[in-house]
Amino acid sequence: MTAGDQRRSAAIHAARARQTPRTRRPEAALARPFLKWAGGKQQLVAELVARAPRSIETYYEPFIGGGAMFFALLADPALAPKRTVLNDLNRDLVTVYEVVRDEVDALVARLEALQGPYLAADAEGRNARYYAERERQPEGPVDLAARFIFLNKTCFNGLYRVNRQGIFNVPHGKYRQPRILDEANLRAASAALAGVRLTHADFEAALATPKRGDFVYLDPPFEPLSATSSFTGYTEGSFSRTEQRRLKLVVDDLTERGVHVLLSNSAHDYIRGLYSADRGPFAEGRYRIDSTHARRAINSRGDKRGPVDELVVLNYPPEVERRELPGGEPGPAIRPRLHHASDGAPHPG
Ligand SMILES: C[S@@+](CC[C@H](N)C(=O)[O-])C[C@H]1O[C@@H](n2cnc3c(N)ncnc32)[C@H](O)[C@@H]1O
Repeated sequence: MTAGDQRRSAAIHAARARQTPRTRRPEAALARPFLKWAGGKQQLVAELVARAPRSIETYYEPFIGGGAMFFALLADPALAPKRTVLNDLNRDLVTVYEVVRDEVDALVARLEALQGPYLAADAEGRNARYYAERERQPEGPVDLAARFIFLNKTCFNGLYRVNRQGIFNVPHGKYRQPRILDEANLRAASAALAGVRLTHADFEAALATPKRGDFVYLDPPFEPLSATSSFTGYTEGSFSRTEQRRLKLVVDDLTERGVHVLLSNSAHDYIRGLYSADRGPFAEGRYRIDSTHARRAINSRGDKRGPVDELVVLNYPPEVERRELPGGEPGPAIRPRLHHASDGAPHPG
């Protein structure tokens, strides 16, 4: 890149960073997640959005994955944050988001070139194309992003799993007509990502800057409910209980700084215990824990798919209950499917 290119790119970036919800392009509100992602929150997102603070200065999502919550927040003009910082430890995933934001035309062209021959091929031809693409080293960010999306849409169950060397190793899926290129949605996602800061870091580093008035949604790799349901292969490392405890300390710190935090995880006793007052270092009732159900689409054993208990942890009172409906009932969005498992008095934030 020449010095001129660098200046131009910095100016474009600064202009994007100045965008507010008012100047955000309208198609941004129509964007949906453009990747399938294990632990993706599509099923739970209405319940999460119902609990989001009504006014968000900067929105932080340090485990972005497929970004279900981010896109859902943008879909509601009343909730759309002023600024957004998205992060993931998966470097390639962050590159995909960068390319969708900055180079959507080139990405669409590249995906078109991958989609046509794949869909036209017979089963054997598709197999060969999938494995050729999987084994290939990408050349540059646009190529990497196109390859990532192609593999995501054509691999087994949309899984992202890497071996210890960090090499993607999911086998070919058998979809009849996979939608490798969804151009309208990619363009909407590009508009949604304009002005968004993307970072690639461990969650702790990504959460150094939030302050009062900001909102952090945490969706870490979930604590497996059983030995066979374990899925923590998004990156080379795994997300152990040590990591869950480290995350809890970061949540404690954010809470002390007055940042609104919402966290989801599997309804594992370990997680429940971690966020229950008697285990935490702070006064009783520090966190509120709601129990809900989410259908997880990704499970290696089809017969194990079904409703799964999921925990939602908050450090502030959820807006949905402050908003009085006729008759003084809590909001219908959450009422029928939810009970409070161990409700500590909410922390006002
Ligand atoms: C459950 S997924 C998030 C799913 C997302 N909410 C969605 O709707 O698709 C967890 C994400 O955390 C990322 N991750 C794992 N360890 C991390 C770490 N230490 N710091 C930041 N991100 C991490 C994984 O790469 C994965 O994308």
